[in-house]
Amino acid sequence: MESFVRESNFFEGNAPEAVAAEYGTPVYVYNEKILRDRMRQVAGVITKYPYTANYSVKANTNVHILKLALEEGLNCDAMSPGEITLLLKAGFPKERIFFIPNNVAESEFAFSIEKGIMTSLDSLAQLELYGETWKALSAAGKAASGSERCAVRINPGVGAGHCDKVVTAGKKTKFGIQEADIPEIFTIAERYGLKIAGINQHIGSLFMDPQLYLDAVTNLLRIARGFEKLEFIDFGGGYGIPYHKLQDEARFPMEDFKKRLEPILDEFVADYGYAPLFKSEPGRFCVAEGSVILGRVHAVKQNNGVTYAGTDVGMNVLVRPSMYDSWHDIELLGAGVGSEGLEDRVGRQDAELEGSRDGRDRFEQTVTGNICESGDILAKSRMLPELRRGDLIAVLDTGAYGYSMCSPYNSRPRPAEVLICKDGSVKQIRRRETIEDILALM
Ligand SMILES: Cc1ncc(COP(=O)(O)O)c(C=O)c1O
Repeated sequence: MESFVRESNFFEGNAPEAVAAEYGTPVYVYNEKILRDRMRQVAGVITKYPYTANYSVKANTNVHILKLALEEGLNCDAMSPGEITLLLKAGFPKERIFFIPNNVAESEFAFSIEKGIMTSLDSLAQLELYGETWKALSAAGKAASGSERCAVRINPGVGAGHCDKVVTAGKKTKFGIQEADIPEIFTIAERYGLKIAGINQHIGSLFMDPQLYLDAVTNLLRIARGFEKLEFIDFGGGYGIPYHKLQDEARFPMEDFKKRLEPILDEFVADYGYAPLFKSEPGRFCVAEGSVILGRVHAVKQNNGVTYAGTDVGMNVLVRPSMYDSWHDIELLGAGVGSEGLEDRVGRQDAELEGSRDGRDRFEQTVTGNICESGDILAKSRMLPELRRGDLIAVLDTGAYGYSMCSPYNSRPRPAEVLICKDGSVKQIRRRETIEDILALM
């Protein structure tokens, strides 16, 4: 694929330079059609049995995007009372929220018990604390009805993911309850009068080979047979997206995955005697491809034979490359052509600006941000058309773990977020943070 921005009609006819002029750079730009399309795909993973796809909102918590998930019929996973509050604000009823915290204080369990939000416990110690909290609130008449029902997060002993930091099951992670401890779950539940309504797992993030997930499903269903009358079984998230799309990386084979999943479920249902509600927890798949970051090149220099293109997309704006060594494709959208000023560029058509990038030499450049850290690198030794001061770039696939992981490091306020709606209109869905916002907390 030569240009994702053009081929997906990402800006729906709007000129990227005009969006950059209106909202400044860096700016997160989302495309509603792409977001909805990916959400629909995950909503249809299982059709034969009761199923909900729980969008894992840690990937992106903008309330306007949560509203799209609500409209597309997704349920949601939350990792904190803050995420639950955003979901309630977006209009999600409590029944459609699943709370999956780890290592939290009693106050967080009190929050979910009083609100009646299904909670998963990540360790025997947390199950014990949930039980104590539930018992106390129940005695005080403050526990929501049904809050004796809870879930446990199983560590199935195998994990997978694009880097060690996102492998969330297996022998080397902090997550979940190991299989050997399952009998203790029943003892604790009985002690407090809790009911284990569901089990969940999440083995890790970003796999393109469905076999890894299918193996994890088979394994969890084996474990599930040891639990009586489960209301739900949640297989976790992790479906990958092609981050190397400009190199024509294949997509996650969703249709093939669905076909191969069904017989595994058939066998379980026949054996278990009924079909509980099956769930998944995709985050990245729902939102990653629905966003690009528009950024500006401000300085180009040579240091010891390396060409550095310095942009305003620092590690505070997108931390994934520095944190996980992640790859994000970069496209040159508008040519800055030397010393031309911003006003001149906005006055010209994007097609003309794009034309002026043609014929540029391609060579290895290291694209960096404006943060005072040597790890502030967006793309290392990347083959790109020669970048020049004033160029407008798009960093692709930034909708997941992009804005939700940004920070005001170096006291650089966080960027704005803009949605290109399906009718082509452009809506600001989060204003740019200001230094006054930062000062207000002190
Ligand atoms: C418990 C849990 N569920 C779901 C997800 C979503 O994963 P992904 O965005 O890879 O689908 C995560 C992400 O790490 C997670 O920790």
